[in-house]
Amino acid sequence: MNRHLLSINDLSANEALMLLDTASELRKISDGPMKKLPTLRGLTVVNLFYEDSTRTRISFESAAKRLSADVINFSAKGSSVSKGESLKDTAQTLQAMGADAVVIRHSASGAAQRLADSGWIAASVINAGDGTHEHPTQALLDAFTIREHFPDHQRSFSGLNVAIVGDILHSRVARSNVLLLTKLGASVTLVAPPTLLPVGVESWPVTYSFNLDEVVSEVDVVMMLRVQQERMHDSFFPTAREYSRSFGLSGSRLARIKSGGIVMHPGPMNRGLEISAESADAVNSVVLEQVANGVLIRMSVLYSLLGGVPLVTEMGAVDAR
Ligand code: CP
Repeated sequence: MNRHLLSINDLSANEALMLLDTASELRKISDGPMKKLPTLRGLTVVNLFYEDSTRTRISFESAAKRLSADVINFSAKGSSVSKGESLKDTAQTLQAMGADAVVIRHSASGAAQRLADSGWIAASVINAGDGTHEHPTQALLDAFTIREHFPDHQRSFSGLNVAIVGDILHSRVARSNVLLLTKLGASVTLVAPPTLLPVGVESWPVTYSFNLDEVVSEVDVVMMLRVQQERMHDSFFPTAREYSRSFGLSGSRLARIKSGGIVMHPGPMNRGLEISAESADAVNSVVLEQVANGVLIRMSVLYSLLGGVPLVTEMGAVDAR
């Protein structure tokens, strides 16, 4: 596997499945008496966050600690970045502190790639969300969650229909999910107003629709996206009420989802805008499962990038080192 995880394009389908399998094995171990594994003892993971985060930052911290790594949390707010320090100088400072992995979130698309290609640091770089580009560990935890709800699709998502709904234009979650879900064989439909579909979407391996009512009862997975108002420097829909009426997951749309179908949202949710409280808290909403699975997936990624041997040996035994 590649030394960095910058994009879902860094992974073959088999490598992605291996990360999901490793997360499954890590769950079995975590459910046992040994909550903490010694695997990454002596290694240092730096969380380098230039943008706000709750789920991703905390789950990477939790994942690293559960593998016994030392963790340094760096947030741009309150650091020398606010005094004008560059990414290069910050990275070289982390290198001098002995970082073995840097988990970076940045508002600029391509920031993680820049850090990995720069030669400023020797550490593995993990993209925790770069601008509107990608959020690969979110897509992996989403695929892991889907796989758990569709046991007939452990090795392939062929035959599964997924709708990704809402602010596709600004969504790194949508881009990474389109790449991963289609790599695994799923059929993906994007549902959004024309203003919130990216230019060139015709070349993506998806179908798209402007009508949620036509799609919602046809798919196995309804993945709602946050309306990213902080990235909107223009008017993309007439009013919040109008957006919610056309593209929100209301109680009446929730009722039309197939039996066995699930509702996903990467969080944070705008309740009352893209998703009603009733839908967010529904029995078939897996939002909190996504959060819990995020820790397992990030353990799997850190374990795999930082040199962990496969957890399932040829003998079928678990090797927790
Ligand atoms: N899904 C996600 O990336 O959430 P945070 O912004 O809270 O990390």
